Amino acid sequence: MKKKKNKLSTDAVRAGVIRTQEQEHSEAMFLTSSFVFKNAKEAAKRFANPNSGNVYSRFTNPSIKMFEDRLAAMEGAERCVATSSGMSAILACFMSLCSQGDHVVVSKSIFGTSVQLFNNILSRWGLDITYVDLTDLHQWKKAIKKNTKLLFVETPSNPLTEICDIKKLANLASTHSCKLIVDNCFCTPALQKPIDLGAHIIIHSATKYLDGQGRCLGGAVLGNEQDMKEVFSFLRSAGPTLSPFNAWVFYKGLETLKIRMDAHSKNAYELAIWLEQQKKVEQVFYPGLESHPQYLLAKKQQFSGGGIVSFLIKGSQQEAWELIDSTKMLSITANLGDVKTTITHPSTTTHARLTQEERDAANIRENLIRIAVGIEDIEDIKSDLVFLSK
Ligand SMILES: Cc1ncc(COP(=O)(O)O)c(C=O)c1O
Repeated sequence: MKKKKNKLSTDAVRAGVIRTQEQEHSEAMFLTSSFVFKNAKEAAKRFANPNSGNVYSRFTNPSIKMFEDRLAAMEGAERCVATSSGMSAILACFMSLCSQGDHVVVSKSIFGTSVQLFNNILSRWGLDITYVDLTDLHQWKKAIKKNTKLLFVETPSNPLTEICDIKKLANLASTHSCKLIVDNCFCTPALQKPIDLGAHIIIHSATKYLDGQGRCLGGAVLGNEQDMKEVFSFLRSAGPTLSPFNAWVFYKGLETLKIRMDAHSKNAYELAIWLEQQKKVEQVFYPGLESHPQYLLAKKQQFSGGGIVSFLIKGSQQEAWELIDSTKMLSITANLGDVKTTITHPSTTTHARLTQEERDAANIRENLIRIAVGIEDIEDIKSDLVFLSK
């Protein structure tokens, strides 16, 4: 009999459960580095085929498996491979699916550390990288070569919330026998399902909304069995594995993901509208605003605008820093996706290691501020930003 497909909110609390003989209701945590075997023959069998049972937590652990299976169900992916951070998810993906001399096309609008990974590490191992504008399909088409293997985007992008048409880009990738990777960090499966739209691979920094309370680092790569077998094999040999404790935090985090994302989005939308009316604000970037260049696409592709609002303050870095320093409640920190609202100055923090040229290309200006809107009362968030209305 075919297994009934559940809705996301059901998978968030029910998918992937492994219950022990103790019959616990809440999912257990398996803090163990290795597993014991009945005898030498069984040890050999497990080593030969990790699918036949647990071996060693670098590549098999029930807590990690629960997180992987739950997230895979929510994203509609055949398989998920968990990693120690979002960055190691990106690394694992490119190291396992590309070889020396392969070409990849990457959006200019990505997280600063991802740019560092491509330019300073992966390129040294012989990866040929072309950067293009996220939203310009023509540039993607022009950039694809015979040896292009992967296309990589964040949508919405960090920090400007630019959006590309996942369906069109996935079609383009398929037509040229390459694969589209979507970093789904800003939306999560609660707001956007890249695989349903044709994307081949999804990346997550679980550190962000999947945790939701700013506690642990982790990541994930999701896709079809064949690709994830390669990613798993890289992980088993190279070792950037998720810790079982962090996996436990994440699969409990997934249980409340949808209601948190709805609350983040509601607050972010209200804040974006309010920001547009403030005297000291030059421009607001939020996919839920009609003024956003990809507003209609966002409406079609995402269930809501998400929790991140960026804006330009009138003036320069000085005014941006003055605003940040004037806040009393918001947390001045580079993380995002926390229930607590965080405020960041991208050009001197998350994107500080880019060259000025790279920042210009990504439109990261010195008067840009990113707010990852939390779930506090929206009136308290606004009143902490009173500097903008004076
Ligand atoms: C869009 C995006 N992808 C990946 C990462 C990297 O994730 P991690 O910090 O878990 O390595 C981040 C971190 O901020 C991010 O914003």
